[in-house]
Amino acid sequence: MIILGIETSCDETAVALVSDKPTDMLDVGQGNSSCILAHRVFTQLEEHEAFGGVVPEVAARAHLQLLGPLLKQTLKDAQLTLADIDGVAVTCGPGLIGGVMVGVMMGKSIAAVHNKPFLAINHLAGHGLVPRLSDELSFPYLLLLVSGGHSQIVVVKSALDFEVLGSTQDDAVGECFDKCAKMMGLPYPGGPNVEKAALKGDKKRFQLPRPLKGRTKDGMACQFSFSGLKSAVRREIEKLGDGFSPQDACDLSASLQLAVSDTLCDRLKNALKQCEDRSQKLTALVVSGGVAANAFLRNNIKVLAHEFELPFVAPPLNLCTDNGVMIAWAGVEKMQHGSVDGLDFKPRPRWPLNELSLKKL
Ligand code: KG4
Ligand code: ZN
Repeated sequence: MIILGIETSCDETAVALVSDKPTDMLDVGQGNSSCILAHRVFTQLEEHEAFGGVVPEVAARAHLQLLGPLLKQTLKDAQLTLADIDGVAVTCGPGLIGGVMVGVMMGKSIAAVHNKPFLAINHLAGHGLVPRLSDELSFPYLLLLVSGGHSQIVVVKSALDFEVLGSTQDDAVGECFDKCAKMMGLPYPGGPNVEKAALKGDKKRFQLPRPLKGRTKDGMACQFSFSGLKSAVRREIEKLGDGFSPQDACDLSASLQLAVSDTLCDRLKNALKQCEDRSQKLTALVVSGGVAANAFLRNNIKVLAHEFELPFVAPPLNLCTDNGVMIAWAGVEKMQHGSVDGLDFKPRPRWPLNELSLKKL
């Protein structure tokens, strides 16, 4: 089975062709990703750099211009035509609706013209399932999903059954990194540049809060909150005023990264204990989403996994940030469940993970 994947929900235009069985066509560099026949990602850096963040209308227009040529190139890379594919998997939400609609219209057109099944993919399910492509991983596993728009702890029970244990009350962790980076004057995109600056910084210099750390009662054990941390970073920058130097930015980045890591690990520990308490056997602790590209966070979560005697799984960096492979792979898994969607499927700007549809072939 070969599935075409299309991703346009934020600022990455991405297309991929993924098979349900391993082939030796393309090695993405790390992990066992030999099901990937071809994949292309265009990151809209120049388009949004001047604004210091993603502008939805600019992103949608760029997706419209880029998607056709990218699709053509990806098919050429794999030496396939649209007649060779067995289904079209498209991000139908959650995300910036203008961009999502561009991908959905393209996907539906291909499905209609070539008479192929249409697979409406939840972007978060894509992030959550791609570790099963890059690594040997069976259900159920505990997933920390950390991206620009989401921070969630989820028990993944099957490709269509996600139990959300906790999510953010305000900002997502990636959003916190991006906004703090902008305040510190670091280049766009924020997250990777905070990581880079932190390498040259003193993580103990600034005492930043660990939001909700230690809170285990009132249903708060697995929740996140990052807006207070962002405000604390702003106050430190204001205190330093005009004297805010490049070294201050490095020290503050390192301190911010440590505060985020402590917070994520505290919440994850509660989730792992919760699973133990209800005798939920887990196969692994998994981290995915754009922020999972951060090596400092990955290392600390790996230590936690070992504490709980669980294998630690994280996809290779290029499968952590938005890509078409994860959407195509979620399509493969959905097809394997015998679940497809109609061409009347409406794109959803908001689409919680516990509302995945199951429509049988
Ligand atoms: O999953 P993703 O590519 O897009 C969304 O679905 O949101 O995640 C993008 C987020 C951005 O906030 C970006 O700053 C963050 O992931 N990010 C990082 C790193 N690489 C990307 N954050 C921290 N460290 C990184 N190395
Ligand atoms: Zn994403």
